[in-house]
Amino acid sequence: MSQSTLVIVKPDGLKKSLTGNILTRLSETKLEIIAAKVVKVNRELAAEHYRHLKDKPFFDDVIKYLLGEYHDRHKVLAMVYWGKDAIKKVREIAGATNPEEADPVSIRGAYGRITTKGVYENVIHASSDETDAEREIKLWFKPEDVIVDVYASKVATFKDVTMKVWA
Ligand code: PPS
Repeated sequence: MSQSTLVIVKPDGLKKSLTGNILTRLSETKLEIIAAKVVKVNRELAAEHYRHLKDKPFFDDVIKYLLGEYHDRHKVLAMVYWGKDAIKKVREIAGATNPEEADPVSIRGAYGRITTKGVYENVIHASSDETDAEREIKLWFKPEDVIVDVYASKVATFKDVTMKVWA
């Protein structure tokens, strides 16, 4: 069955110029990229993304990490991969969440590290199951950013909406 999954190349991945390597590794899955954008993450988005960790001692650090505060690189690359067993296929190539436990040839095993404070800098995020994938994709992308209708959407009209447009 086709699934969607969110992949985020985190600030350390961008700072270390790993994007090309990561995309090449992920292309082994033969999945399709159906959405992609560079995002300057704000605190609200980061906190919502990691809301299930809010009581963990490392919560502030994972937020700062995603904001790019540890790598002086305030952006991430967010993508949606789509296809058969997408979640499992991406997580296999990503490797275990803990970079020290990850297979050395996986993305996290090859490029991740644990800081002296014990925080995982594991280069990419990959959704862990279908429920998380749906929540995360809807958090990071608007329906029109995703070229396949993977979740139901509707047309809504808003009065007096202000937005930035090309001058
Ligand atoms: S849970 O609830 O612990 O199972 O959470 P999980 O879904 O595995 O995600 C944990 C995210 O926090 C990042 N992180 C750490 N996890 C555990 N221990 C330490 N020390 C730690 N430091 C950071 C971890 O990388 C997960 O983020 P993602 O983006 O999913 O890799």
